[in-house]
Amino acid sequence: MPFILNAWYVAAWPREVEPGKVLARTICNEPMVLFRDEAGQAVALEDRCCHRQMPLAKGWLESGTLRCGYHGLRFDGRGKCVEIPGQTSIPPRARVRGYPLVERYGWLWVWPGDAAKADPALIPAIFTRMDHPEWTPCGGTTYVKCHYQLISDNLLDLTHETYIHRSSLGNQAVVEHPISTKGDAEKVVVQRLIPDHDPAPFWKAMLHRKLGQHVNADRWQVIHFEPPANLVLDVGVTPAGHPRADGVEGCNTNAITPETEDSTWYFWGFTRKFGRDDAALSQKLVDTVANIFEEDREACEAVHAVMKRNAGRAVIDVNADQGTILARRMVAERIKAERAGTAQAAE
Ligand code: FES
Ligand SMILES: [Fe+2]
Repeated sequence: MPFILNAWYVAAWPREVEPGKVLARTICNEPMVLFRDEAGQAVALEDRCCHRQMPLAKGWLESGTLRCGYHGLRFDGRGKCVEIPGQTSIPPRARVRGYPLVERYGWLWVWPGDAAKADPALIPAIFTRMDHPEWTPCGGTTYVKCHYQLISDNLLDLTHETYIHRSSLGNQAVVEHPISTKGDAEKVVVQRLIPDHDPAPFWKAMLHRKLGQHVNADRWQVIHFEPPANLVLDVGVTPAGHPRADGVEGCNTNAITPETEDSTWYFWGFTRKFGRDDAALSQKLVDTVANIFEEDREACEAVHAVMKRNAGRAVIDVNADQGTILARRMVAERIKAERAGTAQAAE
């Protein structure tokens, strides 16, 4: 079992599940089909017809029900068969698996594991600022051909900004300032503070936009990780010596969803307290962050390819890896506990 299955994962942005259209998406190796039911609610079913195993995503919607494109069985949003062409009786076993789905924090979350355990209260509240009245969100999706944990590793160790993002987020000050790392059974927090310095290009531009001049800044990076791979980064700069509210406060939200062992749906947002009514700024931020994450995508895919060729080969750790080590340990423990629970239930 390579993934934590008893967890909420972002499957899509609500805008991706368009009325009247089906969306095929694989989450943790589980092929799913997403669509909107009769009430307009997004739902997720297994992408496999219970008749002859045709992918249901090859079918079409009829008044919020999904018609299989092979022999025409029709299913409602819970996966129950409501029509078998040519016969009047519908056997109770004529149904496909439905996955719990909840819309929250601007995303559609699915639970690929045991549906009885799918408590919406377990959706990570660290994402609350994605639909908070004091914050303005924007965001996008990056599809990455790598194991999902390489992306959480990337976000937990921001020393890479100095090198991979040297034209935007990185400068020498990042790598020269140490991190502090804290962890417990539920989360990992990695913090780096960079006082009184000439800020990196992206932050320099954002601060100049607000102040109309270039000034030295205090910068903060506070990374919150919760398993399986949910990360919120509190980030920003303020004029040196000033409270954060005098500067530009941002929050980068990252919901990282495994597709397979070798591919990942990376849903990200950037929500801010500055320039809140500026739609052009939202678009500029989406484009800028997407470009920055393209640099991460290239790095993660390159690392993944080398790791595949070198399975089991040792690597070294450095001080900046404290967060990634704690996070990976936490995920491994969750998988172990889930596996033990599944084995116990099967006895
Ligand atoms: S495979 Fe779906 S109706 Fe036959
Ligand atoms: Fe990055």
